[in-house]
Amino acid sequence: MFTKQTVRDIELKGKKVLLRADYNVPLENGKITDDYRIKQSLPTIHYLLDHGAAVIICSHLGRPSGPKDTQYSLFPVAKKLHQLLNRQVEFATDCVGAPADKAAKNLKPGQVLLLENLRFHPEEKADFDQFAAELASLADIFVQDGFGVVHRAHASTDAITRHLPSVAGLLLEKEVDAITSVMEKPERPLAAIVGGAKIADKIDILNRCIDMADFVAIGGAMANTFLAAKGVDIGDSLYDKADLQVARSIVKKAAAEAKKRRFIFAIPYDGVVVNKIDKNTPTRIVDWGTHVVADIENYPRRVPKRAGQVLSDEMIVDIGPFSGSFIAGCIQLANTVIWNGAMGITETDSLQGPIGPYAHGTELIIEALLGDFGHKPYTLVGGGDTVGYIENRKLVECFDHVSTGGGASLELMAGRKLPGVEALLDKKRVK
Ligand code: 3PG
Repeated sequence: MFTKQTVRDIELKGKKVLLRADYNVPLENGKITDDYRIKQSLPTIHYLLDHGAAVIICSHLGRPSGPKDTQYSLFPVAKKLHQLLNRQVEFATDCVGAPADKAAKNLKPGQVLLLENLRFHPEEKADFDQFAAELASLADIFVQDGFGVVHRAHASTDAITRHLPSVAGLLLEKEVDAITSVMEKPERPLAAIVGGAKIADKIDILNRCIDMADFVAIGGAMANTFLAAKGVDIGDSLYDKADLQVARSIVKKAAAEAKKRRFIFAIPYDGVVVNKIDKNTPTRIVDWGTHVVADIENYPRRVPKRAGQVLSDEMIVDIGPFSGSFIAGCIQLANTVIWNGAMGITETDSLQGPIGPYAHGTELIIEALLGDFGHKPYTLVGGGDTVGYIENRKLVECFDHVSTGGGASLELMAGRKLPGVEALLDKKRVK
């Protein structure tokens, strides 16, 4: 249950609202390649406009080196917003100072203004009070709706709340509610499928999932580190040497948990390997678990030794069919599934359509999550790359909750407090 005041708890009519959004969206040659975060901010903007407010939106984009780093300008977002809202969106070339003051002053109820990238000012990340005061001077109320950034204590997530009455937007409320209710009271069995590149980014969520889930499966490049830690030869695969010890301690914790209760911790026991990341290079399936899968062209001859071994020049690029089927089967038994991170390399285009040659493991998991094998669990999806992938596959609507937050959703899943949420007014303070 969300405990902070929201836009529903505050008088908006005739007020100027400073809305913090997270428009940190991917851009290629000035074009937005994934507008999920922008679309998810629309309900709050509409709510504010419908209730008679003038809306001044601020956000960061990327990690610019300074004000001249114009590749990080939010101007393309203003154009996108204009298109999505189907109304005029003013743009101020700076988030504070004369351009912002003038544009904010002229703004009438029902109008929208987007301010230039907050991070063009180093004071934003430094959580400077004076910078927050300048931002606050533009408006009467602050609305935090940038879920993706509330794990940061920055001027526009933290210091600003000391200058204006500060409440949550509808997206922030929806995200916190969806994630905390799954983490606190999931409908069991609960499965967690965790992939992606680095264990270091996901230690906390892995530990929390081992404590509370019934099934935890690992995929993606982080699985390689677990395999290396177990002594499996992973050839030239990407892995994290520095995390080998962490991987060992996670496996140890999982094994201890499995002694206490019914609990499965699965790392892949087969994989797809290649010696060159290229859509035309043939793939091979290697089973380091049971050594039963041969190269299909050698079948039914004697199983070659290399079938059970990743060669020194080969890389694991996806989970294998047995591992994928095992995870898909466990998803069939689950009533709630948390999914964060692809099972293999999903960025490489294929010659035919959007599914890359190393995305079959991820696709199998998606089919299982979406109920293609008969049973559809409640699905909570997080992580920037995962969300980007299902966005490109036009499948976002098919999942129950797809988080706009990367780091923020991981922190919340791990049970951490989010500074940008903590700083907002508590619900109980409403008279
Ligand atoms: C994100 O994309 O995770 C957020 O926008 C936060 O961005 P940051 O990691 O650069 O603070």
